Amino acid sequence: MKASKQIENLLEVKGRKTVAVVDLQWGDVGKGKIVDMLAGWADIIARGTGGANAGHTIEISRKTYVFHLIPAGILWDEYSKMNIIGNGVALDPRILSDELELLRANGKSYNNLLIAYNAHLVLPQHIALDRLRENGAGVGKIGTTGRGIGPVYEDHVARLGLTANDLLNVDSFIRKLRRNLSEKISRFARFDPDHVREVMFSDALEGGIYYDPKEIISVDAVINRYGQFAKNFSEMIWDTDALLQRNAGIKNILLEGAQGVLLSVDYGTYPFVTSSDCSLAGLAKGVGLRTDSIDYPLGIAKAFYMTRVGGGPFPTEMGGQASEDWCNSADANKVHEGKKYPFALASIQSSDPFLQGIAIRKAGNEYGATTGRPRRVGWFDLPLLRYATKFGSKRIALTKLDVLSECETIKICHAYSYVGPTRRVAEKTILGGERVDEAMVYTDVIGHCVPRYAEFSGWQCDISGIRKYSDLPKKLINIVNYIEGIANVIVDMISVGPDREQIIIR
Ligand code: IMP
Ligand code: MG
Repeated sequence: MKASKQIENLLEVKGRKTVAVVDLQWGDVGKGKIVDMLAGWADIIARGTGGANAGHTIEISRKTYVFHLIPAGILWDEYSKMNIIGNGVALDPRILSDELELLRANGKSYNNLLIAYNAHLVLPQHIALDRLRENGAGVGKIGTTGRGIGPVYEDHVARLGLTANDLLNVDSFIRKLRRNLSEKISRFARFDPDHVREVMFSDALEGGIYYDPKEIISVDAVINRYGQFAKNFSEMIWDTDALLQRNAGIKNILLEGAQGVLLSVDYGTYPFVTSSDCSLAGLAKGVGLRTDSIDYPLGIAKAFYMTRVGGGPFPTEMGGQASEDWCNSADANKVHEGKKYPFALASIQSSDPFLQGIAIRKAGNEYGATTGRPRRVGWFDLPLLRYATKFGSKRIALTKLDVLSECETIKICHAYSYVGPTRRVAEKTILGGERVDEAMVYTDVIGHCVPRYAEFSGWQCDISGIRKYSDLPKKLINIVNYIEGIANVIVDMISVGPDREQIIIR
């Protein structure tokens, strides 16, 4: 039976009407594929968090699509499904226009795409400020995607933001834009003018079309350009909150998370996070629903390795700091220990973690869908999983299991040893040498946690064709059982390859 049919039956039997897919790690767990598969069942597919910092990769019949804003459901049956960009999404009209064009070019329709009237707009000043800050900073750099995400959400809470609805009313747009920009001019003044100019002339800002030497951002240029963009989708701007509220419990609704719980501005490894709340609660809020409208939250975790892009603590990282530096270095000819690293030596069996990390990165194609950056790679971390499920879900899908099929030894981090100075975290005092079972995301603690590993011998056979749980190798099932026990989760699905059908539903 087709995977989508199996899912349909399962959800039907359990009477589930609203499903939410939430990433339990730092993004990039392969949720695009899970969402795409569930979209077969859904009538409405909605995104509620993040913006074009996300990159969802979907492979269908050997063609790969990457979307940053449009929900992954767009590639299903074009006429019957509604796709929604919800109120919590940072909406970049340029990226949206590009994605609509990509669909058009591939003969795909987007009749049923709607955009929340109250979604906040990404404006050129947001992209510029994001990039200026990140280029300047040294230590403690977040390593953002440069899509203007932080500054958009800052303006949202500072009550300076513009929404999609302002695109429908030129006078409101102009008035709010002027007010927004008047507050930015003093911020631009803090950066070196040459640097500002360089950023304003980058591709991300369309080669200088918004640049004004005196005002930095030309109001007229923004009005013109955004007016053009708006023509592409103004008919799609809608009260999507009301639409979802009306349909909750009646239609099949799929909420598509972006980023992951560990990147949530509220629950993640702050400050190394994105600027939206990518937890289950944040996702519900970002589409105008209450959390209790969701009757099947599904957490997604990549296994049995994980990745992170940009800065921030990552206890199980293979190759530690050297790997982080290597991944985050902008130099295309990356150098490690004085030499261009010998890729040829990198093997998934390597006893040198740095080399093993390179091999796993390659095997899993772990390069950013948005920025192309190599993702940092580490072993599966159960203390973090246990933590993340509280803000996501205990029912989970494990993805990309096929990537480590050749691996002789699989290491799973089941606890940490804390090796830092004595610290207070909330009501607890944590001492050097202490064992930690559930991660504390306070960076001054997790940054000093060393993993304790359990080792399992790998299954070492091709699992990509398996569709039944009981057909999986015994060695693999052992690891799944172990994870369920230690992290207190229920594994509902296992993904064994990139294709829609390469999934095992338990
Ligand atoms: P921002 O969201 O561009 O502000 O970036 C903040 C942090 O979140 C950086 O470490 C990014 O690498 C990370 N991040 C943002 N979006 C994604 C994503 O979709 N996948 C993985 N990491 C992301
Ligand atoms: Mg991604």
